[in-house]
Amino acid sequence: MGTKYTIILSVLTVFLMSGCKESTEYGGKKMNIKKEAFGKTADDKNVNLYTLTNANGLKAKITNYGAIVTSLQVPDRNGNLADIVLGYDTIDEYIKASPYFGAIVGRYGNRIAKGKFTLNGIEYSLATNDGENHLHGGIKGFDKVVWNAEPMQDDNGVSLKLTYLSKDGEEGYPGNLNCTVIYTMTNNDELKISYEAETDKPTVLNLTNHSYFNLAGHDSGDILGHEIMLNADHFTPVDEGLIPTSEIKPVKDTPMDFTKPMPIGSRIAEVKGGYDHNYVLNKSDDSLTLAASVYEPKTGRLMETFTTEPGIQFYSGNFLDGSNKGKGAVYNKHNGFCLETQHFPDSPNKPNFPSVVLKPGEKYTHLTVHKFSVR
Ligand code: BGC
Repeated sequence: MGTKYTIILSVLTVFLMSGCKESTEYGGKKMNIKKEAFGKTADDKNVNLYTLTNANGLKAKITNYGAIVTSLQVPDRNGNLADIVLGYDTIDEYIKASPYFGAIVGRYGNRIAKGKFTLNGIEYSLATNDGENHLHGGIKGFDKVVWNAEPMQDDNGVSLKLTYLSKDGEEGYPGNLNCTVIYTMTNNDELKISYEAETDKPTVLNLTNHSYFNLAGHDSGDILGHEIMLNADHFTPVDEGLIPTSEIKPVKDTPMDFTKPMPIGSRIAEVKGGYDHNYVLNKSDDSLTLAASVYEPKTGRLMETFTTEPGIQFYSGNFLDGSNKGKGAVYNKHNGFCLETQHFPDSPNKPNFPSVVLKPGEKYTHLTVHKFSVR
């Protein structure tokens, strides 16, 4: 029994590692991982595209360039699959100009004011790439680096384990930071994103995924009719540069209130620039809880987002302006929305926000689950 098991496991591993296109059967249901070449980076590194198909036929395509989810196919209420994330067909387009489509952003997702923070009496200066501020990890953040990739699978689904060592001083951050992100397409129709990191010097971090969703299909126009619920009674107001003012304000009686499901477009005109705000989730610990649900009435697709993080950035694709064209579509303003599960923006400079400091000997963990179904 032991030997037989080992042989089966080794054969499976060889198949997966060699990028085979064969599918493997588990529990009588089909799921598989396909690996194909996705081209080269500017510094001539080869990268791959992995297609993770779960037992029900849902598919996630992920490249180890930027740990980017390039495509996510989920069924509508008639069982028809559509790709519900904005993105590109080729690596060259991701390299040329991407508003972080599908990527893992880090070390610090969102903004750090003026790219500066002080930790244990030492002031650190980060790369500034958003006016005077630091955004999504800087000039060459985690969305633009090549990750090591290892396909995995078990009875629950198919996974891609991505690892990256961010060296001491990268983009100005202290400490060698070892990061692992595991994407799993589960047989319960969830895209699970699990993050871990360890450092050898005190540092700050805030990892998240920057997928732009359109549950009607990535090429089907604006998302203003999607009905969204955000499990948050409070949000963090921002200044002109989108840096939090430090206040934590109630959403009640404002157009920020999505505690009950509402179309995204119902009051967006009352919010200057559109939604681009961190919501403070209703929770008191780091357990996995419901953060958001989004329903698309025409197709019946429902996405429920669960996270261990204290916040979520709800971004209504305000800066999409038609200049990004991908996968045969033109992405205009509000054609996708992001739900970035996270710690709050500019936390390194906001003592009243939950801490984002990671010390040697500690482990950063974050789990986010997007569950797909229909109504
Ligand atoms: C931010 C936006 C930013 C966008 C970049 C979002 O996470 O909140 O302000 O413009 O990322 O594509």
